[in-house]
Amino acid sequence: MKKDLISITDFTKDEYLRIMELAKEFEENPNQDLLKGKVVASLFFEPSTRTRLSFETAISRLGGRIIGFADPDSSSATKGETLHDTIKMVSNYADLIVMRHPLEGAARYAAEISSVPVLNAGDGANQHPTQTLLDMYSIVKTQGTLDNLNIFMVGDLKYGRTVHSLLQAMSEFENPIFNFIAPDILQMPRAYKLHLEEKGIRYFEHEEFTDIISEADIIYMTRVQKERFSDPIEYEKVKNVYILQNSMLANTKPNLKILHPLPRVNEISTDVDKNEKAYYFDQARNGVFARQAIIAHTMNLK
Ligand code: CP
Repeated sequence: MKKDLISITDFTKDEYLRIMELAKEFEENPNQDLLKGKVVASLFFEPSTRTRLSFETAISRLGGRIIGFADPDSSSATKGETLHDTIKMVSNYADLIVMRHPLEGAARYAAEISSVPVLNAGDGANQHPTQTLLDMYSIVKTQGTLDNLNIFMVGDLKYGRTVHSLLQAMSEFENPIFNFIAPDILQMPRAYKLHLEEKGIRYFEHEEFTDIISEADIIYMTRVQKERFSDPIEYEKVKNVYILQNSMLANTKPNLKILHPLPRVNEISTDVDKNEKAYYFDQARNGVFARQAIIAHTMNLK
């Protein structure tokens, strides 16, 4: 049976740990011809820099070939071809499909149609599971553990698909604490809070975080997702609500790391970049190794 990765909950805790192990192996030895003779389709119906390029780097380092598009305007979607027909056909060409799409649920739909594995590279405001696995790899590399961490999620927790997937994955580990810092209209959706309540996991909601920042092990900053707002005035009201400045990090824990899935707009001031607690560019680099691991695991190459 083919193995897809659509939601982070498609993998078990043991599989998360296996991905961490494999990512470490790929970081130590990135060039391995495990995809020799295989073709991977990279279908990006929505813009991307990191996810697309790190997937394509991962595939190249594994010796595979890439087909696809970075811009749906260059595909027959512009002529009215349905997602159903696109996937049906591409799964006849490729051994694996990596897809980003603006619609929530599009990746699950593609997986149902495709005869080859599908990896969700982000579907609307829903899930971004491969980002989560690289986030977890970044956390375990910097903290030495995935247990007992106080995780601050800051910014657009409503539309930010990366925080939804990360919350679900980290809730599988021992004794996490979540602090959600968001303006009223961008709070963590109820379904994710219920998930934590059912597991007896503590979470706290705030509109400010200057007073509590000293408790954080991880600060996960997010961009306010302009493209998900139907009303531009609502976006204008919240776009600058949280800006992390270097001066705010003075009394933080020595092990603190600042993560961000990127791209950032202005939510992390550039004066933070030189602080040793800033980890977001290393985090993006870890994406190549985590995605090599995900491909190897889903295609049973190791
Ligand atoms: N983190 C992330 O998904 O970045 P891109 O949108 O550039 O792929």
